[in-house]
Amino acid sequence: MSEKWVKKSVFLIGFMGVGKSSITLELGHLLGLDTVEMDDYIVQQEGRSIPEIFDQDGEGYFRQVESNLVVTLGEGNPRVISCGGGVPMREENRKNMKKYGTVVLLTARPETIFERVRHDQNRPLLKDNMNVEYIAGLMAQRQPAYEQAADFAVSTDGKTPAEISREVAALLAQRQH
Ligand code: S3P
Repeated sequence: MSEKWVKKSVFLIGFMGVGKSSITLELGHLLGLDTVEMDDYIVQQEGRSIPEIFDQDGEGYFRQVESNLVVTLGEGNPRVISCGGGVPMREENRKNMKKYGTVVLLTARPETIFERVRHDQNRPLLKDNMNVEYIAGLMAQRQPAYEQAADFAVSTDGKTPAEISREVAALLAQRQH
């Protein structure tokens, strides 16, 4: 299908490990849009890893870089943007994502998330808390902000990236994105 109807960026939000990055490429392909992964962009821009940024300059610095990037990307051409899991926690980011695009929340059960992130060393927030209970607690704490930020949500449990991308694309088409 030719997807010339896509006029605005799509911000994919959701908890760490929900599969935003894998869906981004697939969805970009379906919609004929370029894609960008915020964490990768920041790592390139800063010339250091996310754990290094947290260690050297603190989480507050990282959050400000993220907020600036939401605006920079939002002002650019329409793209599929994979957001870091913490982006929707700031009201300013929620407003800017809505202003510049459509916001899609991807969800998964804490057990699914745990299986996906358990061997990953690259997420400072889970470094010393790699267990289902912690993930479930942080997820519950974040859920209201995620829901507030989102135009709609798609559950990813038991689905392939291709299935999720098609579902998101169909919902975007319905909304005449
Ligand atoms: C974070 C999520 C990470 C990364 C950083 C903080 C969070 O991105 O931005 O480790 O606060 O949820 P992913 O959601 O892509 O893992």
